[in-house]
Amino acid sequence: MGKTTLTRAVGHPLARIEALEKVTGAARYAYEHGGEDVAYAWIVGAEIARGRVRAVHDGRARSAPGVLDVLWHANAPRLRDTDDDELALLQSPEVSYRGQVVAVVVAQTLEDAREAATLVDVDYEAERHDVLLRPDHPKLYTPESVAGVPPTPADTAHGDFDSAYRDAAVKLDATYETPAEHNNPMEPHATTAAWEADGSLTVHDSTQGASDVRAALAALFGLEPNQVRVIAPHVGGGFGAKGTPRPNVVLAAMAAQAVGRSVKLAITRQQMFQLTGYRTPTIQRLRLGAGTDGRLVAIAHDVVEQTATIREFPEQTAAATRMMYAAPNRRTTHRIVRLDVPANSWLRAPGECPGMYALESAMDELAVACGIDPIELRMRNEPDTDPEEGTPFSSRNLIACLHEGAERFGWADRDPTPGARRDGRSLVGSGVAAATYPAWRAPSQAVARALGDGRFSVGIAAADIGTGARTVLTQIAADALGVEPDRVELVIGDTAQPRAPVAGGSSGTASWGSAVLGACEALRREGGDEASYDTAEDIERQEDFSRHAFGAHFAEVRVDVDSGEIRVERMLGVYAAGRILNPLTARSQFIGAMIMGISMALHEESVPDREFGDYVNHDLAQYHVPVNADIRELEAHWIDEHDPHLNPMGSKGIGEIGIVGTAAAVANAVFHATGLRFRTLPIRPDRVIEGLPNA
Ligand code: MOS
Repeated sequence: MGKTTLTRAVGHPLARIEALEKVTGAARYAYEHGGEDVAYAWIVGAEIARGRVRAVHDGRARSAPGVLDVLWHANAPRLRDTDDDELALLQSPEVSYRGQVVAVVVAQTLEDAREAATLVDVDYEAERHDVLLRPDHPKLYTPESVAGVPPTPADTAHGDFDSAYRDAAVKLDATYETPAEHNNPMEPHATTAAWEADGSLTVHDSTQGASDVRAALAALFGLEPNQVRVIAPHVGGGFGAKGTPRPNVVLAAMAAQAVGRSVKLAITRQQMFQLTGYRTPTIQRLRLGAGTDGRLVAIAHDVVEQTATIREFPEQTAAATRMMYAAPNRRTTHRIVRLDVPANSWLRAPGECPGMYALESAMDELAVACGIDPIELRMRNEPDTDPEEGTPFSSRNLIACLHEGAERFGWADRDPTPGARRDGRSLVGSGVAAATYPAWRAPSQAVARALGDGRFSVGIAAADIGTGARTVLTQIAADALGVEPDRVELVIGDTAQPRAPVAGGSSGTASWGSAVLGACEALRREGGDEASYDTAEDIERQEDFSRHAFGAHFAEVRVDVDSGEIRVERMLGVYAAGRILNPLTARSQFIGAMIMGISMALHEESVPDREFGDYVNHDLAQYHVPVNADIRELEAHWIDEHDPHLNPMGSKGIGEIGIVGTAAAVANAVFHATGLRFRTLPIRPDRVIEGLPNA
């Protein structure tokens, strides 16, 4: 690639380009399409958690007002094979979890469809279900690999953990538990689907990856990829829930095929708890062996988690433990069990987020056991190279983040004694935790076009799910073309544009930005009307480095001794995430993720329904997320990091690192405030009250 200097637009706080469109309602989302003739679909979910559908009596529904069709496994369009059984919708009578789609009603209006859905009478043959994760579940097994890019072995071992741990001067053995958590983006999953006269399919879908949705639909409906167009210019959040094609897009296309009209299908907020993924609950045993100086000699991280019978997703919970701290003897394991539950999947920083909650809590416990400041403890265990891979880090500035954070937060004044600061009926404390997230990129293509009047158009099937991706890509393109950002229009979220990878794994800007830069440089260099670029070969040529972003989270909490309520009075995150391309949108990514981390620590919990399957608290009345009153002072900063081994922009992903370690910082602060270690999330008032002595 050329020698573009990315400084004129890149690095500046350009406001979101589509902000006006969004706040005035001009921006159209997936459900806001379809002509006069559009029909509406409504999902009927299974009432059992395991078994099969014996019969569907759809007569009453079919004769209800406005009903066009009722689809179920005996009459639905046949789909081609897919390797994702979750998308083989209405193809078999088997029921794998409560809420699984067993029928879809299509009608003239939304109200007609919804009303008729209550009239569909499904006859089930139920079997006993098992939806509870337990550490001694007899069906636990070792998955072939755990998720990640690329997937990695379920277990790793270096040195001799058992003897090193046995002989260690200081030992910590603690088990941490995190509940299932559900993605709740503002915009529920929705699709408008239409079949054209020539047999091609067009869908407006709420997705993080239009190109991936196109590939899935082409495979399921037996079409060539160029016969499918997926359009998603605006997406109201995702957090991983829209990272893979979901039932809505397949069902809308099936329904549209069946009735010969455009069809809209939206998943309700309640159905999202069943149909669009969630973070697995985890049970994590951490064992740390250290010298009296706090230097680790042994680390073991043993994970138990769940997945679904319908689809295996083995989350890489111990992945960060493999690269975080130095120790000659180390071991990580993952054991999973397939339960009769909805399919688990990605939720912001899958793996790193729950895993680092446990590791960073254990590090805090070790610091207390050794009588060493938790920041000093982390400095003493800083590795020179990746501890398991042996590769050099492309850049690793964890210690700089800890130092800068300590200074800004006022850590030096902290009295380490737990439970020692009382302010009226409150206990006050502070805590710290480290963060890390991998920096990678996937192959991407882009096209740049000169429009002839000094304006340019850049096309790429990237997704802006509220992150500011469209804006940052515009900045990159503007600098590469040597023009002001207002001369460049980014056309994204449309498979009519060149193929792009998913907005996931905090890799979007790195992946798409490289392609946009390449296309714009080529256009500028070669002249002409149009130039394309594909980054596939650049990525093959990459050197062997361990590439990760790092960060440090600091939290101050106030614990009410009467109610057990915890308030995070202030939180600070300091990040080393390569070059920050737009400080305005980056700050939003960081603080948004920190809020989600506070939420993980104190609020979010999907409670399994032992009796009926699925989750009990499947709506926003019962599934708690923080509101404005829960969030007080939040600050995000970053250090100037120059890493030449990443991508032409020198950026690392920033979408996920802000949540990693946040929950541990809060939990560590709660320990410092109360002297009590809560190892199960969320740290609910009832748990706090139970633990607190009569104060
Ligand atoms: Mo994110 S969970 O990689 O969409």
